[in-house]
Amino acid sequence: MAFNRLRRLRKSEEARELFAETKILAKDLILPYFVVEGKNKKETITSMPGVFRLSVDNLIRDIKQAESLGIKAILLFGIPQKKDARARQSYSSTGVIQKAIKAIKQEMEDIVVITDVCLCGYTSHGHCGIVRNHLIDNDETLKILAKIALSHAEAGADFVAPSAMMDGQVKVIRESLDENGFKDVGILAYSAKYASNFYGPFREALDSAPKFGDRKTYQMDYRNSDQALREIEYDIREGADIVMVKPALAYLDIIQKARQTFKVPIAAYNVSGEYSLVKSGSLQGLFKEKEIIWEILTAIKRAGADLIITYHAKEVAKWLRQ
Ligand code: PBG
Repeated sequence: MAFNRLRRLRKSEEARELFAETKILAKDLILPYFVVEGKNKKETITSMPGVFRLSVDNLIRDIKQAESLGIKAILLFGIPQKKDARARQSYSSTGVIQKAIKAIKQEMEDIVVITDVCLCGYTSHGHCGIVRNHLIDNDETLKILAKIALSHAEAGADFVAPSAMMDGQVKVIRESLDENGFKDVGILAYSAKYASNFYGPFREALDSAPKFGDRKTYQMDYRNSDQALREIEYDIREGADIVMVKPALAYLDIIQKARQTFKVPIAAYNVSGEYSLVKSGSLQGLFKEKEIIWEILTAIKRAGADLIITYHAKEVAKWLRQ
């Protein structure tokens, strides 16, 4: 009988492998980095064991290692020396990220450099936009986002990734890139980005926790899923090349709906809180670390993500080599 045959096939690892529908590849993974000014810096991020803030020299060394393991793409976040209310460092041609992009591109031709385009790491108040009377000024923020994206393109970025969740951000960035001769720089849009508790550890990494209020006026309400599809649709219309769902693990339903609805590449962000839960649980002996990471990343891919942004990328790429 059919069910007997299946049971027999499941008996060996080889047979299970033959029947496996989902497979993680190193090329599916995007590795995020936090970049600081200075030399020979490797700062611990207490909330994210195994992740560091790196100065450009150490960053290059680390990317080379990641590349040798089969990683094809990285996502950069910058931590400026000086933050202010208008995020002035974010679009400076000598800003930390702009310098990092140039240095990477000088040393490595092939690695795909994706840069986060947002204000939160650069503003003294920690919000993703310009604040006026305690409210985010969407349209003022758009101007800055376009400037940031352009400065990244000028430095050599392959993709810019707007994550501020401002209305119209993909459109203004696409226009500014096109007008300035960067038609071939792509946009990875954080389209369905939820106001999530899972970003906690990241905010320590970037020192970007909002000093007042929260991000609920511009990030999505986790009670909504149709809205995610509308956000994605707008972004595709505005010119996004890849769309993203974020976070990943508690939002597999959103990834799957997006997969079924749109025929564009979909990225999912396995965010800092998901990473830190796994790390701290494993350190306490609650999980077999490698196995739980495989299960989580496979679930994200099975739901329909083509690309997974994950802090686990290097260790997973290493295991794939074994
Ligand atoms: C900034 C941004 C955030 C993350 C990526 N880009 C945080 C936030 O919105 O507070 C979170 C990534 C992570 O948690 O790993 N707009």
